[in-house]
Amino acid sequence: MSALDDLAGERVVSETAQEVADAVATWIAAQSRRAYGDHGSFSIALSGGSTPRMLNELLAGPEWQGRIDWSWWNVYFADERACPPDDPASNYHLAQTTLLSRVPIDPSRVHRMPAERADLDAAAAEYSDLLASSLPAARGGAPRLDVILLGLGENGHTASLFPGTPALEVVDRWATRGLADYEPFDRITLTFPTINAAAAVGFMVTGASKNQALVATARGEVPASRVRPTDGTLAWFLDAAAAAG
Ligand code: 6PG
Repeated sequence: MSALDDLAGERVVSETAQEVADAVATWIAAQSRRAYGDHGSFSIALSGGSTPRMLNELLAGPEWQGRIDWSWWNVYFADERACPPDDPASNYHLAQTTLLSRVPIDPSRVHRMPAERADLDAAAAEYSDLLASSLPAARGGAPRLDVILLGLGENGHTASLFPGTPALEVVDRWATRGLADYEPFDRITLTFPTINAAAAVGFMVTGASKNQALVATARGEVPASRVRPTDGTLAWFLDAAAAAG
């Protein structure tokens, strides 16, 4: 019996972080083919932080770039920090420099969160409206993304849904203002209704430092525990260090 047996969804454990990135790339490619076959396009929300860098560079590299039809892609974000889009702390900056600038995606199909705006509530409302107007609605009414890629913080946050913050309780908007416990504190984040409306959610979690957050998630103790797609799939892509014990 592993402490992670109660994690909802499918668990894919790879030995190394590089192998995790390859497993996620394979999964994304399959999800994009499924979505394109189903409705002629593919929408994906990317996360920030350090974990996605390896995946982005792999997708943009010689092994994968030719195996994906980038013309199908519409890119959104799971969250964004309150900083300019060219700031190294920006999740858009990470995606733009490691992936989007290196693959043939039409920039008009990349929808960044305008978290540099002074009025974050208005910016979040604008993004919520963009999601609703550019994506099909799931049965519960929330905009339905084909894929949402998420990370897991050591305190069990995901996207910018941090423990004890108001964003956790927002159910009538698809994106909202978030509050982190590390700089940059102010954020914009997808809300749980949007995350749980997705066709497929994939967590990418590596490193021993995330093991306790995974255990807490499995126990239902942290925000990430609330990611349970209503009419979609959930997969955890872990390396051995994160999944140990
Ligand atoms: C952010 C991310 C955040 C991230 C986790 C894990 O803006 O910080 O979206 O939710 O996914 O904090 O971050 P690491 O991958 O750096 O561990």
